[in-house]
Amino acid sequence: MGKLYGKVAIVTGAGGGLGRAHALGLAAEGAKVVVNDLGGKRDGSGEGHSMADGVVAEIKAAGGQAVAHYGSVTSEADAADMVATAVKTFGRLDILINNAGILRDRTFKKMTHEEWDAVINVHLRGTYLVTRAAWDQMLAQGQGGRVINTSSTSGLIGNFGQANYGAAKAGIAGFTRVLALEGMKAGITVNTLAPAAFSRMTEDIMQEGQAERFAPDKVSPVVVWLCTDEAKDVNGRQFCVGGNRISLLSWQVLVIGEHNPKAAPWTVDEVDAAMKATREQWPRLLKPMEV
Ligand code: NAI
Repeated sequence: MGKLYGKVAIVTGAGGGLGRAHALGLAAEGAKVVVNDLGGKRDGSGEGHSMADGVVAEIKAAGGQAVAHYGSVTSEADAADMVATAVKTFGRLDILINNAGILRDRTFKKMTHEEWDAVINVHLRGTYLVTRAAWDQMLAQGQGGRVINTSSTSGLIGNFGQANYGAAKAGIAGFTRVLALEGMKAGITVNTLAPAAFSRMTEDIMQEGQAERFAPDKVSPVVVWLCTDEAKDVNGRQFCVGGNRISLLSWQVLVIGEHNPKAAPWTVDEVDAAMKATREQWPRLLKPMEV
């Protein structure tokens, strides 16, 4: 019996790339899957049914259970309908993988409001809207749940030309950390995934030769594991996963100086001295491909 037998999952943006791999991986472990995809282009324009339908057909051909959903994560009604589809078709909802995404890369100097808004809308607001609907359902069921939110090293570390995308992805990581605290009592874990995979989103950044090394299905086993009972105590974490490498991204704290809280405030000169005295101990800034 699969590790996720009896569980029901929604994967947004599951018509291709990472979402497809996650949906196939979850189904292979016995989960019933709502395969959501708007079916548009990489920049978010257009829509269609063939992407979601194709992945549903693949899951069924492998002996699994799945249903297509063609709505947009940017629509409150579609988000509610995604959850309603899970409940109507499979009776419940245990797992939400927020994965849908678009790109509108541009240096900040040239970025338009439209490019900013479109990316924030799909990634940050889309993650919020679908989680909003799923959260209520998971709480009503009273049996916990799993939410995995897709961030990026672009948001966690930084990447040139992606101010809109990096802001959205950092927002998703912050959203995740708060929900991890709020879901704990109800047994709902919320974790962040920062993937690296060769997909239509990255095909012009990664070289052709990296397609196999960074195949999307090298990320999905971590997503599937996070949904199993083995990971019930893993909450509020950030996993960077790609090319068969799994990293946990966390924080280090360096106390730069401390005065008695009852004493007078630090002077700017004292701050300057403390900064300079510790500067060599500051952790160096990471580069995107390092994690
Ligand atoms: P992709 O372009 O193959 O997949 C994104 C999917 O989301 C597409 O199938 C698209 O149709 C769907 N989608 C777009 N807007 C939607 C909407 N409004 N409603 C529903 N579905 C929508 O790209 P990929 O690489 O598979 O990306 C998946 C996620 O992983 C994204 O959130 C992306 O930002 C993130 N990511 C990917 C990285 C990579 O190396 N491929 C690196 C870091 C993050």
